[in-house]
Amino acid sequence: MAMLKGLPLAFLVICFSCYLISVPSLASSDEFLQCLREKIPSELVYTQSSGNFTDVLASSIKNPKFFTTSTARPVCIVTPSDASHVQAAVLCGRKLGVRLRVRSGGHDYEGLSYRSACPYEVFGVVDLASLRSISVDRPDSTAWVDSGATIGELYYAVAKNDSQAAFPAGECPTIGVGGHFSGGGLGMIMRKHGLSIDKVVDARMVNADGDLLDRAGMGEDLFWAIRGGGGGSFGVVLSWKVQLVQVPPAVTVFSIAKTLDQCAIDILMKWQDVAPSLPADLTVRVKVQGQQAVFMALYLGTCSSLVSTMGDRFPELNMTSADCRSMTWLESAALSFTDMSSTGTVEDALLSRASGMSIATKGKSDYVRSPISKNAWKKIFSWFAMNGSGLIMLEPHGGFMDTVPADATPYPHRSGVLYVIQYIVFWQGDGGAASTSWLAKFYDFMGHHVSKNPRQAYVNFRDLDIGQNVPVNGNVSSTFESGKAWGERYFMGNYQRLASVKAAVDPTDYFRHEQSVPPLLQRSK
Ligand SMILES: Cc1cc2nc3c(=O)[nH]c(=O)nc-3n(C[C@H](O)[C@H](O)[C@H](O)COP(=O)(O)OP(=O)(O)OC[C@H]3O[C@@H](n4cnc5c(N)ncnc54)[C@H](O)[C@@H]3O)c2cc1C
Ligand SMILES: *[C@@H]1O[C@H](CO)[C@@H](O)[C@H](O)[C@H]1NC(C)=O
Ligand SMILES: *[C@@H]1O[C@H](CO)[C@@H](O)[C@H](O)[C@H]1NC(C)=O
Ligand SMILES: *[C@@H]1O[C@H](CO)[C@@H](O)[C@H](O)[C@H]1NC(C)=O
Ligand SMILES: *[C@@H]1O[C@H](CO)[C@@H](O)[C@H](O)[C@H]1NC(C)=O
Ligand SMILES: *[C@@H]1O[C@H](CO)[C@@H](O)[C@H](O)[C@H]1NC(C)=O
Repeated sequence: MAMLKGLPLAFLVICFSCYLISVPSLASSDEFLQCLREKIPSELVYTQSSGNFTDVLASSIKNPKFFTTSTARPVCIVTPSDASHVQAAVLCGRKLGVRLRVRSGGHDYEGLSYRSACPYEVFGVVDLASLRSISVDRPDSTAWVDSGATIGELYYAVAKNDSQAAFPAGECPTIGVGGHFSGGGLGMIMRKHGLSIDKVVDARMVNADGDLLDRAGMGEDLFWAIRGGGGGSFGVVLSWKVQLVQVPPAVTVFSIAKTLDQCAIDILMKWQDVAPSLPADLTVRVKVQGQQAVFMALYLGTCSSLVSTMGDRFPELNMTSADCRSMTWLESAALSFTDMSSTGTVEDALLSRASGMSIATKGKSDYVRSPISKNAWKKIFSWFAMNGSGLIMLEPHGGFMDTVPADATPYPHRSGVLYVIQYIVFWQGDGGAASTSWLAKFYDFMGHHVSKNPRQAYVNFRDLDIGQNVPVNGNVSSTFESGKAWGERYFMGNYQRLASVKAAVDPTDYFRHEQSVPPLLQRSK
């Protein structure tokens, strides 16, 4: 009954909002294509009638649920080989009222870099995959990396230049630099070196006026906003200058699984206490899946020193030297995110861009500021006993993360955060409805045990369930007020500053998508 009542309402809301945002007509999309052809070499512009449009569109899509016959597709894909092509696309789009979506690595959890949630929206895609050069300045210990590079390519270029240089970023090598840096970039060395954005020292971007700006040109407010304020809101970032970090010649990893019978819950209880306060050189993350917890660690040091630290601080795990695997940092960056196994060469793991589109996923996130009780952990395991299609990954903060003020970058989840939870369910074929409804119910349950007011979330684990830009009372543009639903969860107190920056640099909200930051215009204060 509830379903029957709910459906038509949801349907109406979706149709209503889509009707209102489908501003550009097909005529303007023809003019848009014409405008692009005048300014950009024709082989870089794929229209729906181009022979390989579908291949180019699919090239970096990870999630088959956003590659169906009912997915809203762009009218064209521009694949710039030069900054001037991005500038031209922005100028054409603005002149003719056609919005652009920007794609770097295509890993967005909601596919917002290449699809619209509204089936009627007319939009183009700027795909930066060809702008992917990386140049390391060894004496300066910095690098310029283009947005279209993957983080695997960045890791490889950096460590091949200097085997003791590294960069803090995520754990899946095919992630694009452009989207990843735009939202933060967390991973296995963040407790020592911070997020990717903490090491960005300059950038080049194209703004809503089509201007190409560096840090000095964009000013400190905009430079602040693009480092963590979420992709697709402020312009197209073409490249980033990053400060590299130093790692020892060898690092040590382990992966230890504990089942419920092996006291997984007691060990998790201890993990919650120690993981955020271990030495910053040591990160122990946990995957909970099925009826076990897998403790996976990266230590920037030797096996013997790791064994001794674990013995002192976390003896419950019974970690011994037999668990140690020593390798270079680069080899550790090539290990699988889910189980720290290695398959193939480092080059295969870090440089391959092949996108398998066989597994569909849905993700969500939470932050934990006070330890989850033992009783709640028992219930969490019973949720996993009910259905096995998902996992949660717990990644500890603390260390360097605690030293960065919450407003230093848009990423506000700093001091006081114990760990971030990433929820992922996956399925093949038609399993989507059961998996996503299980996740939604599990996430409701978890609401009692995680951060509140607001319930914090990570913009790079994008989740449209927590809210999206829809017209308020018939107004087409998104508003600051309506954006609070997700904006304050992703950015907390930084949401307002982001919206003010947005108003200053893109007051007409050209760079707009389902969860872009709305402009805080004076009248809407
Ligand atoms: C398998 C997997 C593993 C992941 N692991 C981690 C992890 O370990 N740590 C972590 O922090 N995150 C992780 N993520 C999340 C990831 O960081 C985000 O999805 C990130 O936004 C992806 O960047 P992208 O360039 O690949 O995505 P895209 O889909 O290309 O872009 C994501 C968003 O940014 C915008 N955007 C893209 N490029 C630009 C640009 N150049 N300028 C402005 N806006 C742009 C897009 O329009 C879109 O809104 C993971 C995601 C997946 C799918
Ligand atoms: C698209 O097709 C053209 C010619 O058919 C080819 O030259 C080009 O490399 C193809 N591009 C991609 C990305 O497949
Ligand atoms: C590292 O980069 C520098 C430029 O800063 C270059 O001169 C040097 O040859 C590179 N070294 C290697 C091993 O690639
Ligand atoms: C871990 O070690 C302790 C002693 O240090 C021992 O009592 C316990 O049984 C061990 N647990 C497992 C699962 O090996
Ligand atoms: C578990 O999965 C089954 C089949 O996939 C489904 O029928 C059931 O509703 C799911 N249970 C929960 C609690 O979501
Ligand atoms: C709609 O937007 C206009 C200005 O763009 C504003 O004057 C008006 O108050 C808004 N209406 C509502 C209901 O928000």
